[in-house]
Amino acid sequence: HVKIKLYKHTTYYIQKLWKSNVKKSDTKQPSYAEVESQVSFEQMVEARRQEAQRSVLVQVHSEESCPDLRQYCNQHGEVRGMHHYSLPPDLHFVVVEFEDSAHVHNILNVSGHINKEVVPVQSPFLWFRAPKKASQSKQDFSPQAHVEAPSTEELQNWMNAAQSLSDQLLVLHRVTALNDLGSRLRFLTARQIELALAGLFPHVKALPFGSSVNGFGRATCDLDVVLLPDCEVPSDDCRLVFHAKAALMGGRPQTQRLMETLGDVCQLLLPGCSHVRRVLQARVPIIKFKHELTGIECDLSLDNDTAVHMSALLYTLGTSDPRVRPLVGAVRRWAREVGLTNPAPGRWITNFSLTLLVLFYLQQHGVLPLLGATGDVVRLPGSVKTDLAALFTGFFEFYASFDFASYAVSLSSKVEVPKPDHAPLYIVNPLERGLNVSRNVSRDETERLRVELRNAAWLLESVPLDPGTAKSWGLAALLEAPHAAAKGRNIFYIPPRRSTPSRMMDVTELFDKSTVEMQQHTE
Ligand code: GTP
Ligand code: MG
Repeated sequence: HVKIKLYKHTTYYIQKLWKSNVKKSDTKQPSYAEVESQVSFEQMVEARRQEAQRSVLVQVHSEESCPDLRQYCNQHGEVRGMHHYSLPPDLHFVVVEFEDSAHVHNILNVSGHINKEVVPVQSPFLWFRAPKKASQSKQDFSPQAHVEAPSTEELQNWMNAAQSLSDQLLVLHRVTALNDLGSRLRFLTARQIELALAGLFPHVKALPFGSSVNGFGRATCDLDVVLLPDCEVPSDDCRLVFHAKAALMGGRPQTQRLMETLGDVCQLLLPGCSHVRRVLQARVPIIKFKHELTGIECDLSLDNDTAVHMSALLYTLGTSDPRVRPLVGAVRRWAREVGLTNPAPGRWITNFSLTLLVLFYLQQHGVLPLLGATGDVVRLPGSVKTDLAALFTGFFEFYASFDFASYAVSLSSKVEVPKPDHAPLYIVNPLERGLNVSRNVSRDETERLRVELRNAAWLLESVPLDPGTAKSWGLAALLEAPHAAAKGRNIFYIPPRRSTPSRMMDVTELFDKSTVEMQQHTE
């Protein structure tokens, strides 16, 4: 309760602050004040959940089937919109959104199984078979087109064509952030699980959390889903109480057993769920699977409500200033390019921890408020007007000299907090202050992080930050550097080795070597 109260207080204050900011920025700095979302986390999640309840996902032969599908669907309800996408090799799908969830009910009631060899489950994932008699709809209708994530080369070209470093950061954000279709598919995937369990647990919600909803997601991010009970404790007037089985084991063993069963449900019954893996020994046991029809990697967990509060907190911070999301996106991208992050869990820093590093930096520069222990929000003095580019270069300068060996990073403190233990990297969990969210990060990886931060700070001082004669500049040059270095073509960047801290290049050595090389190059 304390956690929830703290979170609610914080959300309330940040929203208040954000509203006053929007008013200010209307007059003073409208340039990149592209506020994507002006609603609270709860409103956004509820709107997306209802959208998923009004939607079905239909596999079609090709995009040309869309008018026909629309006409067919309109016989059973009223179509509000259609969103087409394709997956390799040449599979086509359409998310059909109806005006009302009752229309989905109608559509599912008139749908069936034509093959007797299948497990005949009902789910909102369907396919549209060819008509018996060739009938082509005459309607002139094309579904909403969705631009796919650009290739690295396309992205580099767009960034090099930008007008400034700030523009580059915004371009990267616009083309790589999770888009509307991505959100729809994630909520629909969660809906499928919720519906599958609805008979036994009509009040269980399957809620997306993590980067799918916290505003920091990319087009290809995984879907973290948690199953949470949403039932109220009956009042004293309630006379009828459900019969129920006794919880056999209780606690963690019970959760693991339930997760195992959920894994079986996904593997054996849910259309599209494949490669089901059970990771039951982890701190939070999860079921991992790949959804073949949406192309999304999913992590399913149980009863982990803190994760949802964390997503709400990050969402609120992300919407409190238009510079936050592009900045976090660019830092995450940089970390991926230099190999600091890795989709597999391990002793390296995670996107979540990196996000907290960026948020802490923004707090220290007065862009974001501090999260106070009592829920009060304190804004440190700093330049609210600092432009996005300066904040980006400032991030690397800030951490290049941060004393990770002695201090922890805490979103609720304006002074540096001494590390409470000997963990190489200590980032205080903002909702459970006694925990370190980066306790998985090894000494080697912390050292690599430090060297890469210094590398980037130095590189951003060395490459042109504005378009000029250089082919590659600013953010494009920073992201290209590790790849060019791997091919022996870059003099600005020398990648530190993984797992060999003793042989890792010291930054002073790096400066000397690069300066020499640069001089040679100039000569
Ligand atoms: P991606 O790398 O894009 O998936 O980012 P993500 O933010 O979704 O990260 P991830 O899938 O690893 O974790 C999902 C969510 O779980 C995060 O956003 C956090 O809310 C939460 N989480 C992850 N790691 C930790 C941790 O160490 N401690 C706590 N308390 N929460 C965590
Ligand atoms: Mg995730």
